[in-house]
Amino acid sequence: MPAFSFSAPGKSILFGEHAVVYGFPAIAVPLSSISLKVTIQPLPVDNKIIIDNQDLHEELNLDTITKDNPYKHSIETIRDYLKIDHLPSMRIIISSKIPIGSGLGSSAAYSVAISTAITAFLGFKLNLEKINELAYEIEKFQHGNPSGIDNTVVTFKRPIYFRKNYAPEQIKIIEPMELIVADTGIKALTKDVVTQVKTKIEREPDQFTEIFQKIAGVTNIARQDIEMNNQHEVGKLMLENHYLLQQLGVSIPELDKLVDIAVKEGAYGAKLCGSGKGGNIVALIPPEKAEKIKSSLLNAGAVFCLSSTIEKRKKIN
Ligand code: PMV
Repeated sequence: MPAFSFSAPGKSILFGEHAVVYGFPAIAVPLSSISLKVTIQPLPVDNKIIIDNQDLHEELNLDTITKDNPYKHSIETIRDYLKIDHLPSMRIIISSKIPIGSGLGSSAAYSVAISTAITAFLGFKLNLEKINELAYEIEKFQHGNPSGIDNTVVTFKRPIYFRKNYAPEQIKIIEPMELIVADTGIKALTKDVVTQVKTKIEREPDQFTEIFQKIAGVTNIARQDIEMNNQHEVGKLMLENHYLLQQLGVSIPELDKLVDIAVKEGAYGAKLCGSGKGGNIVALIPPEKAEKIKSSLLNAGAVFCLSSTIEKRKKIN
């Protein structure tokens, strides 16, 4: 069997996080400037699967790790999905430029890349829908009740309008859109934040349903503005979405501060992205302001800043 490599991008949610868990729409984009790569190499020995995490300089033998280990779970999920009893010996090499636990899609990129790499290495030809289905199964272990938006945008590598249990719709981009993502450096587990929101909804269902409905309204208008390249309007809607996420209780002062600075320095708009309580903001910016906005965000305490362009692309579905 020849070696096989696959890289999956990071992602950012532009509109609708949290609401998407409850069936409301959301918009996500791939971040092509950061990615995670999985390489599978055949091993000349029997019964051995080695996981080689190059970033952590860690080598694990699948046989000696416990069932609750995410690597073990993902590999067994792939084996069960393919309905095979035995996997051949292999070395699984993982390297990533996507920060962990900051809402930029590292776990989705891992799920998609490992699903694609192992199935291709074994000679299975899965289409993107099947890879997405498999990656979603892997994501459930990490996130409990994920909406599926992360694995879907990373699998299709296109800006998408997403609703749980519906086929994703590709968003038409008529002019490039320039984003900056800035990290507070504060780690938060998506699973925990989603659970906190769930507890609040159970206590005050009416109030939270109203917030979700407003987020859905903003998301639907944003889709039209994105498709007409009204970037000023998209920016304003990002801010509106951020204020609604504040009302949901998932923002923190560090995120609010980065949003304010991005806007003060000339971004069209900005918001927290992903589950919140830490992690990143995403700002939509005029390209000529990129350097100024980035240096102001770093001066204000962002630990990491990256630029990413959403490329011009006609809708194909
Ligand atoms: O994985 P994160 O932190 O980007 O958050 C995903 C977005 C949520 O809507 C909060 C959860 C989900 O499953 O959609």
